[in-house]
Amino acid sequence: MITMSEQIPFAAYEEAATYIRERLSQIPRVAITLGSGLAPLAEDVTDATVIPYAVIPHFPRATVEGHPGRMVVGLLDNTPVAIMQGRVHFYEGYSLPQVTFYVRVLHLLGVDTLILTNAAGGLNPTFRAGDLMLIVDHINLPGLVGHSPLWGPNEERFGPRFPAMSKAYDRELRRIALEVAEALNIPLRQGVYVGLGGPTFETPAEVRMLRAWGGDAVGMSTVHETVVAVHAGMRVLGISTITNVAVDRLDVEETADHEEVLATGQSVAPRLAALLKGILRRLSAPVDR
Ligand code: HPA
Repeated sequence: MITMSEQIPFAAYEEAATYIRERLSQIPRVAITLGSGLAPLAEDVTDATVIPYAVIPHFPRATVEGHPGRMVVGLLDNTPVAIMQGRVHFYEGYSLPQVTFYVRVLHLLGVDTLILTNAAGGLNPTFRAGDLMLIVDHINLPGLVGHSPLWGPNEERFGPRFPAMSKAYDRELRRIALEVAEALNIPLRQGVYVGLGGPTFETPAEVRMLRAWGGDAVGMSTVHETVVAVHAGMRVLGISTITNVAVDRLDVEETADHEEVLATGQSVAPRLAALLKGILRRLSAPVDR
């Protein structure tokens, strides 16, 4: 078991990047991370090179159902893209540098735009299961109490000691996402994503607290990846699938469960796929090597 303080040497990121680079003819500029229940989206990729995380040096392995753990690089609607089909989470026992390892590897490969998707519980009382939410900002609860993937000596080759987070979710990318959603007639909510450690779902008291603090959706991923990507100067777009409404009252029948999260994720996947394809079309050209 790796502890919070374990740092990953720069050479390990380079080894992983080299391994991937040697297997690809083209490096896309855009990467998409698929959250719980959204993995089928990678099946639409053509001319795919599939690299299981297990064979990439130093890559942690996904242990949760709904996260296959493969990198799928190819064309989505004729647009080059790297799809990270599954992620690992802090609650699986991985350190935050491990959780975010792939983000820095993508950065070394030349990916400059990271689209993070996730499954989230709805805190905003107007949200319903099946809604899509554009992340405009986040509250990083583990980060606020010192659990940061950037903990420890700063690696200047990735970014500065004190990265600003006031523009974490790129404004231009958000504008494009909203335009594409409107053009495709896909309702897209906007809101603040709260990142927690998990793996417990929230108590009703916690749900009411997070809502009062300005959260619209809550989940167990994304914020650490955003921190590391922004630190490295990457542009980040975040989209949450509201897979369930967070339970805010005691003594009611409803309760959050992973089955519901996966089932709703799957039912929303076609809409999310259309949105992501539309966004991709607006974005990418391959990086010259
Ligand atoms: N809470 C935390 N994480 C989640 C939820 C939730 O209700 N739904 C999906 N991921």
